[in-house]
Amino acid sequence: MTDDDPRARAEARAWSTLLDLARRRRDEAARRPVAPPLAGLADAEVLPAQALLDLLRPFAEAPPGRTYVLAHLGQSLDGQIATAAGDSHYVNGAENLVHLHRLRALADAVVVGVGTVVADDPRLTTRRVPGPSPVRVVLDPRARLGPDRRVLCDRAAPTLVVRPPGGPRAPGDAETIEVPVHDGRLDLEALLAALAARGLHAILVEGGGMTVSAFLAAGLVDRLHLAVAPLLLGPGRPGVTVPAVARLGDALRPPCRTCQMGPDVLFDCDLAAWRSTASTTAPGSEPASTTRP
Ligand SMILES: NC(=O)c1ccc[n+]([C@@H]2O[C@H](COP(=O)([O-])OP(=O)(O)OC[C@H]3O[C@@H](n4cnc5c(N)ncnc54)[C@H](OP(=O)(O)O)[C@@H]3O)[C@@H](O)[C@H]2O)c1
Repeated sequence: MTDDDPRARAEARAWSTLLDLARRRRDEAARRPVAPPLAGLADAEVLPAQALLDLLRPFAEAPPGRTYVLAHLGQSLDGQIATAAGDSHYVNGAENLVHLHRLRALADAVVVGVGTVVADDPRLTTRRVPGPSPVRVVLDPRARLGPDRRVLCDRAAPTLVVRPPGGPRAPGDAETIEVPVHDGRLDLEALLAALAARGLHAILVEGGGMTVSAFLAAGLVDRLHLAVAPLLLGPGRPGVTVPAVARLGDALRPPCRTCQMGPDVLFDCDLAAWRSTASTTAPGSEPASTTRP
């Protein structure tokens, strides 16, 4: 896609609006009107610009001062996010990578499990689109992070390493934040509260499967983006794994829309809307935790 491409031009316009909205969310003092994103666009440009705005506006415009969690995973048709050997480069196409970098640029912080950092040594920065890189947060309860990992030594963005109280400090340039442990698991609600206390409210949970599943099981995800790629991997690293339900009627069935993303199909699932419906129509049927910092 080039700058002469109407779709590229339209998306560039919509993207600059989304960055403005995220800037306003972060800095109430800098609140200023955002230019109408579709004004002056040619007919062929309106649709792609509107599609991008519809997809990303809920995250860019998350209510200021309140934590909003968007989890993203790219998976195969058979629900795997990597091979058994840990190879995940790349399950999805280039369009989804751009999408992921857009999510990073809109996020205040990006959270990953230590399994992802050990396997992929990701930078978790914004390189494919204009926009700021988020604070990087690694869940590392058993101090498995090696000092050579890029998030610890590249100085591309601040990194926070999450550990239980009294554990070893994070190596390199990273800061350690201590979060209580319950039943051997880090308390993710306490983590979100600690991030909120640092002004980090728009949270992208980028993987892997265990980490996204832990946030889902705790009822802490507002929006889930699942990018399904047209390939079959066989038994590998599973994506989303949620607690079993006995009856289909008890399944987590959030409002969902899909959009084509190159060869992939992105499922955009509104878990926050599902939670609020579940809590008004069937008391007791919502996930374990819905309180927010
Ligand atoms: N396709 C994609 O979108 C995508 C995205 C990211 C990663 N990946 C791939 O996914 C694989 C890694 O995923 P994964 O599911 O195996 O691991 P992961 O989610 O990256 O990391 C899991 C580890 O993080 C720690 N952790 C997570 N939640 C925790 C909690 N609530 N309390 C305590 N510790 C917690 C635990 O560390 P300890 O084991 O030390 O206790 C846990 O084993 C890699 O192969 C990577 O390439 C794919």
